[in-house]
Amino acid sequence: LNHPANVAVIGRGYVGLGTAGLLAHIGHTVTGIDIDEEKIAMLRQGHVPIHEPGLDDLLASQVERLTWTTDYSAVRDADVIFICVGTPPGLDGTPDLQYVVSAAASIARHLNSHSQIIVNKSTVPIGTGDYVQRLLEDHTPSFDPSRHFVVSNPEFLREGTALGDSLYPDRIVLGGQPQALDLMTQLYAPLIDQSFTAPTVAPRPEWFTRPAVVKTSLQSAEMIKYAANAFLALKISFANEISGLCERVGADIEEVAAGIGMDQRIGQRFLQAGLGWGGSCFGKDTQGLISAGREHQYDMPILQAAIDVNYRQRRVVIDKLLRHLKTVKGKRVSILGMAFKPNTDDLRDAPTHDLIVQLNRLGASVTAHDPIAMNRAAREWSHLSYTPAATVEEAFERADAIILATEWDEYINLDWNTLLATTRRPLVIDARNIIRRPINAQVEQVGRDAPRGERRRADVERS
Ligand code: UDX
Repeated sequence: LNHPANVAVIGRGYVGLGTAGLLAHIGHTVTGIDIDEEKIAMLRQGHVPIHEPGLDDLLASQVERLTWTTDYSAVRDADVIFICVGTPPGLDGTPDLQYVVSAAASIARHLNSHSQIIVNKSTVPIGTGDYVQRLLEDHTPSFDPSRHFVVSNPEFLREGTALGDSLYPDRIVLGGQPQALDLMTQLYAPLIDQSFTAPTVAPRPEWFTRPAVVKTSLQSAEMIKYAANAFLALKISFANEISGLCERVGADIEEVAAGIGMDQRIGQRFLQAGLGWGGSCFGKDTQGLISAGREHQYDMPILQAAIDVNYRQRRVVIDKLLRHLKTVKGKRVSILGMAFKPNTDDLRDAPTHDLIVQLNRLGASVTAHDPIAMNRAAREWSHLSYTPAATVEEAFERADAIILATEWDEYINLDWNTLLATTRRPLVIDARNIIRRPINAQVEQVGRDAPRGERRRADVERS
């Protein structure tokens, strides 16, 4: 493979932009392609169309190696072509592959006669790599299986920490034919050796050494992505299921999670009980595996249970509220946090959406606040009935209850007592267990009594 390699990256979501920025940063020449002219025009002017900390700085620092176009003919000169388009869930919950198929069809029109690798980074059902390979074979006159390869290279980045996750990954998973995987290893050499300059926006963590490289078949790489997300989702649901029993027997889920997580075989992370998972991946990927099982007449009861527990958790929070207020009809309930997690404005499958739906149904008057997702919510949640609070102060004023739904730092650091004094009733449902010390309110948390100033799991972890 040439170094620097000529890379084309199709798609301008989290994965596409992150991949383009990463590959440019480690020295390659990158062309970002998307059919959305408006978004490409924005990128050309230096505006990043998604919210991801540090991404605009990273892309701005790579303008010389990074160009944007809507013209697929840029694929012709690329040594490696990444497909990073969305695979949103269709009506039946299975991933909709139309963008992958149309990207592959456009690539097919422009493949060259030199050696080219087509890499799938989108999360696609197992078997899609083979399908893309056949599609290219059928539609590319110059297709040559000894020169054109399809590789699966799943992405494990999290929104909000996408840069750090891409620059310092635990592992790089590559699935496909050995010859192509060797070329991919060359492409990623600066990442594998960590020989690039760590950008100030995502400095290299001290504990980090280098990523492992996992080489597999196409199908195994595709399965690794699903199985990893499903396992993380399962861990969260497990913590949530145990948390319900903790409440009933007087145990504290924060202590329990710390105690089990210190077993190296279990691990501390992704055991945080609360409102459950949201976002674009866990729901879709667990459902995706169940659908794959169904196609083969194979049940996946553990995954179904993980999903059920996750969505039950959204009702648990409303039940806690009702236990205190008896009825929420006509009451002012304020929700802090709309995004599915902090540091993103992403609202996909956000628990707050379902909280608002339930509260609307129960006749509550809902107010909601988020540090950055409010504008997006105004566009995407117009079917819900809620009053956006311009400031946190506004959310607290005359509220009958506060539900803390997303653990943004700004909420953790609030001057709670001053704000609570402006409510009608100081009741806080802390659905993410972030309040550590007693405050002047009745506080309900998940899987534990109200905070008494005791250690939270993260404290235990550090001590
Ligand atoms: C996830 C995977 O982590 C990532 O590897 C994959 O590439 C994409 O899907 P993301 O959806 O961006 O990433 O967010 P993540 O940080 O994993 O959180 C997902 C959801 O789980 C959030 O709603 C979060 O609040 C929730 N969560 C996470 C918990 O409820 N408890 C936890 O312990 C961890």
